[in-house]
Amino acid sequence: MKKTILTGIRPTGNLHLGHYFGATKNWVKLQDEYKTFIEIADVQALTDNFDNPEKVRKNVTELAIDLLSVGIDPKKATIFIQSQISEIAELTVFYSNLVTMARLYRNPTVKTEIAQKKAIFGNDGESVTYGFVGYPVSQAADITAFSGELIPVGEDQLPLIEQCREIVRKFNNIYGVTLIEPEPLLSSNPRIKGLDGNEKMGKSLGNAIYLADDEETINKKIMSAVTDTNKIRKDDPANPNKCMVYYYHKLINNPNLETVCSECKNGSRGCVQCKRELINYMNEFLKPIREKRKYYESHPEEVEKILKDGTKIAKEKAESTMKNVKSAMKIDY
Ligand code: TRP
Repeated sequence: MKKTILTGIRPTGNLHLGHYFGATKNWVKLQDEYKTFIEIADVQALTDNFDNPEKVRKNVTELAIDLLSVGIDPKKATIFIQSQISEIAELTVFYSNLVTMARLYRNPTVKTEIAQKKAIFGNDGESVTYGFVGYPVSQAADITAFSGELIPVGEDQLPLIEQCREIVRKFNNIYGVTLIEPEPLLSSNPRIKGLDGNEKMGKSLGNAIYLADDEETINKKIMSAVTDTNKIRKDDPANPNKCMVYYYHKLINNPNLETVCSECKNGSRGCVQCKRELINYMNEFLKPIREKRKYYESHPEEVEKILKDGTKIAKEKAESTMKNVKSAMKIDY
């Protein structure tokens, strides 16, 4: 029997290269080997964006199109919308008794995110909601509702998987063995740097290349990418390891990488020429993704059907979990 993989992603914006090389590229491979569920985590997105429902609604469709465009195949993977699976919300309530407030505040991922919020909104913690502090409990419901066994995640999500494992153990201890304890499937993919050289590519950092960017946008973005600041004239030698243009040449597998590197080092390659080359390779890389996006954008009914069908499959799985949970908890009236 194939093992079940469950992963999720918040619909708060389009996918960028960081998402692609850090996660979704991997999912495309995994869907061949595992029974794969991909959750569009709109309820989780609302914990941060409850006052902006239009943004979340719009990005559910955008994210679905992005996922299909990079090669997630609805025949292999089940893509579904979290908010349509009411069992997840129910499980969240049941699990909330099994987690202390102290434990939630100690969760490193939540701790970091709360610190970021305080930095933005002031130090009184007034902006931190109950729903936000509790989102790891909801994520444990995401995972267990579908009996997720392996959870492909990056390093930053490990504390959430650990929290889920604790909830599962406690549940099974108290109510009898019912839930499956998931394991993280840590991706070896590095974090992707931004156009400005920042360690992280991110929407809020304004340094991202999106899979949906058109040629003109790619042109502008790459022309503005940070290069070695010691290179002033076109024929100055430079250090490619201090250059984001070289970094992306490497990322998208430029077949002439060695030439780029040596010419940069010996000063025979100007940055403008080097950027133009990258623009070409980047557009070539994005071309098939853009073509698929174009197809789905002009067939919205197909996207809608994929999400409906996926959500139906997910719902059936969650219902069967809920039956076992209610029976274990003696609330199966
Ligand atoms: N928290 C994840 C993120 O921000 C998204 C997510 C929601 C998720 N539910 C999940 C990831 C379940 C793995 C499993 O990227």
